[in-house]
Amino acid sequence: MGYIKSAALDETGYVVLDRYNQELDPQEWREIEYVDWKSSGETQFAPLASAQGEIEVNGFWNHTPPRTDKDGVWIPSQVEKAPNLVRRAMEPGANVGRCRVIELQPNEYSDTLYNLHQDDNNRLNPDGTGWVVRGFFNLTDDADSFFVLRENRTDPSVEYRIALPAGAQLIIDTQRLWHAATHTGADARYCLITSWESGPELDAYMEKHNGVSRVPNVEVPQDVLDAGQAEQARRIAARAAFYAAKGQAEKTAMSEA
Ligand SMILES: [Fe+2]
Repeated sequence: MGYIKSAALDETGYVVLDRYNQELDPQEWREIEYVDWKSSGETQFAPLASAQGEIEVNGFWNHTPPRTDKDGVWIPSQVEKAPNLVRRAMEPGANVGRCRVIELQPNEYSDTLYNLHQDDNNRLNPDGTGWVVRGFFNLTDDADSFFVLRENRTDPSVEYRIALPAGAQLIIDTQRLWHAATHTGADARYCLITSWESGPELDAYMEKHNGVSRVPNVEVPQDVLDAGQAEQARRIAARAAFYAAKGQAEKTAMSEA
């Protein structure tokens, strides 16, 4: 039967929506509660919706009973502090799974390439239902930062680099695309991440906000791209050697974020 997917995500695996006027909203992400959760880089997460309405960010499949990334339970103490973020997550009207704010400390492009990973949004997702994709709403004004998306982790021939100013709104099939963010600057970056079920509601939302499946790549000097690619290869090899020496199977892909 197959999953219900968005035609708008067919070509590249992402869409960029109109920019949101972030300046109008209070900085609610500063008020909510964060928990340590190691993801792609130095990160913390503040859940707004979780598996059981607790302040924790584990995958829904790691709970009892295990289930897919849908029907997230809103956390009253967080919702109270961040009503605008919740409103934005609910605006499409699509089923919401995990919904949380990520805090990412500054890093470099070479870190990003090593941090590239695919999400596991559709584990236990029943065939014939909507494919889970993710929304990324940038909250802080990270004018020089960008999302890096690749079809293949180590192949630079398909690499999308999408700017992350305040109010940038992306929807990404993060189980298809390898992804991570390059975040320059001195302060942490904050971004609202929501798991949505694909279907007519999400399609209508993308259309309403003029989603486009291609935007110009953020320009990065070729020597930085080359150095990043070399550093990614070096770190992947070092990691493989480390696990080989320990006689353990390597965990190849990081999940989450
Ligand atoms: Fe991720």
